[in-house]
Amino acid sequence: MEKFVTSNLKLGIIAGGQLGKMLIQEASKWDIATYVLDKKSNCPAGSIASVFVKGNHLDFNSVYQFGKKVDILTYELENINIDALLKLKSEGLKIVPDPDILKIIQDKGLQKDFYSENNIPTVAYQSFKSKDEIIDAITTNHLNFPFVQKLRKGGYDGKGVAVIRGEQDLVKLLEGASIVEENVDISKEIAVVAARNEKGEIKCFPIVEMVFDSRTNIVEMLVCPSEISKEQSLKAIHIAEIIIEKLGMAGLLAVEFFVDVNGEILVNEVAPRPHNSGHHTIESVITSQFEQHLRAILNLPLGSTQIKLPAVMLNLLGEKGYEGPVRYEGLTESLAIEGVKIHLYGKKITKPNRKMGHVTVVSTIL
Ligand SMILES: Nc1ncnc2c1ncn2[C@@H]1O[C@H](COP(=O)(O)OP(=O)(O)OP(=O)(O)O)[C@@H](O)[C@H]1O
Ligand SMILES: [Mg+2]
Repeated sequence: MEKFVTSNLKLGIIAGGQLGKMLIQEASKWDIATYVLDKKSNCPAGSIASVFVKGNHLDFNSVYQFGKKVDILTYELENINIDALLKLKSEGLKIVPDPDILKIIQDKGLQKDFYSENNIPTVAYQSFKSKDEIIDAITTNHLNFPFVQKLRKGGYDGKGVAVIRGEQDLVKLLEGASIVEENVDISKEIAVVAARNEKGEIKCFPIVEMVFDSRTNIVEMLVCPSEISKEQSLKAIHIAEIIIEKLGMAGLLAVEFFVDVNGEILVNEVAPRPHNSGHHTIESVITSQFEQHLRAILNLPLGSTQIKLPAVMLNLLGEKGYEGPVRYEGLTESLAIEGVKIHLYGKKITKPNRKMGHVTVVSTIL
């Protein structure tokens, strides 16, 4: 494979958000030619991709034609036209992670079925075809409050998730096929980013603790290393290894967990791509998650996941009450603090809670 890592290798990335942008920044170190497909030419990755292709990731033709231009295809989001990927695969295109795995992961119902079939600890759930079916189940006492409803497809950043505590919350029920989970009494949310290559080599990044905004369900901050016990840490890493192995996938797999008030570790969901919970690795770990993704999809040896410096990562979210052209405040003051590393994604328009950038603060005490 090494001989392919040259400017002749055309790596296709579906969608050009911040994850695509940071993946390209790594790929350019190895002089890989990067092709990006996105609906908007002013997307974060648009200006730094070797080739930008305008098109919708949900549209069969856009994805199919894009795949025809590249040697290897990967993605930075799950909600992609799967039929186009399966057709490209059947015609011999190397797509990593494999579209058959993405098909399971992009549907929270199939994802949960996978956990039950493989005895992976997860929150108890039921599947529903529509909002009306959920209301029927409540009326006939087959479903009790509180519960958490999640749309099977298309959710991100807490959109597509509704916490229903009682009758007063029924107006928040989402329309569409969904799963309903027990409401977990969460003490902590943690994540492990695992990587596997085709040779079957697996490496996991150290566990991070994610701190959420309770109203928006968006990660505000993450801390690495997390403060969980050695036993819990080994258990979470072991579960992440089992999932990536059982899926038989190559690439990165971010595994989100709940630690409940009894200390039990339960899988929440997985994402087969670089993840918000791995952003700190750029500065704080020997190999960044983006470099690791490239190593994994190109079947190269995986890099060291040893921590160089402990870190916290803060998401820079669009200010509440304002939508319009982006303006950054406090840059000079922040950069005056030692150990502060700022990443601005280059989104032109800000809106409340939109992910606009992140700041990693590394420990300067060695
Ligand atoms: N069963 C549950 N019990 C309690 N809280 C939950 C439950 N499921 C989800 N949550 C809360 O909602 C958040 C978002 O849920 P989830 O990760 O499933 O959604 P998402 O929108 O796909 O996520 P992401 O923000 O990772 O894109 C969780 O991180 C957690 O804080
Ligand atoms: Mg999540």
